[in-house]
Amino acid sequence: MTTNELPDNQQDRVSWVIRAPDNEELRRRYDLWAAQYDADVGNIEDYLAPRETVKVAVEHLDKSARVMDAGAGTGLVGQAMKDEGFRHLVAVDYSAQMLEIARGKGIYDEVHQCDLSKRTNFDGDSFDAVVTCGTTSQMPCASLNEFVRILRPGGKIIFAAATEAWVEFGYADIFARLEEAGQLSLVSRGEAFQMMPTTEPQFYCEILVIEKQ
Ligand SMILES: C[S@@+](CC[C@H](N)C(=O)[O-])C[C@H]1O[C@@H](n2cnc3c(N)ncnc32)[C@H](O)[C@@H]1O
Repeated sequence: MTTNELPDNQQDRVSWVIRAPDNEELRRRYDLWAAQYDADVGNIEDYLAPRETVKVAVEHLDKSARVMDAGAGTGLVGQAMKDEGFRHLVAVDYSAQMLEIARGKGIYDEVHQCDLSKRTNFDGDSFDAVVTCGTTSQMPCASLNEFVRILRPGGKIIFAAATEAWVEFGYADIFARLEEAGQLSLVSRGEAFQMMPTTEPQFYCEILVIEKQ
């Protein structure tokens, strides 16, 4: 397989990668796309979700918090967090090539390649916050269980939740179970906005703030 598989134009590339049939194929496509990702979606006039996510993070998190950027990709969210003064950022992503771009930006204290939908090697209760953006239809919803495990009690998840995908990809169900079990509670849910108004105008997103009990 070669990079020739990548579709020729930006809109088709976005669509081809994000609609991969399973998580392994998705990881492979992100590896192929990594070098071009920032040029394709890094334009904040189109991909609004990172900026909106970080605005909410600033309201709810201390700048000294140890924050996992879950599904960090090439570090667009991490860069915006760093620009706001967050000092302890940890990048985690399944795609090694996306992470290599993130690593090269020098934003993160640590960079880890792993599948967040499975148990990772991070200690329990070892993060103050998880920030995740652009992941609702991309990262399997079982990842929410891992976020709960690695967060300290009182820690927060700032989740840029794609409105339809939150339900369609199972996050709503897992969240309801964890809420029912007294493990998570919803702190706030922002207004829906178009997360990529030019490239994928049908995708709406809401920034959720969730607390671990
Ligand atoms: C649309 S990108 C978002 C990247 C970045 N957060 C941003 O907003 O630009 C989705 C990311 O989720 C990652 N991802 C998908 N499945 C994952 C998994 N199981 N564990 C960790 N990361 C995963 C992909 O590799 C990809 O980098």
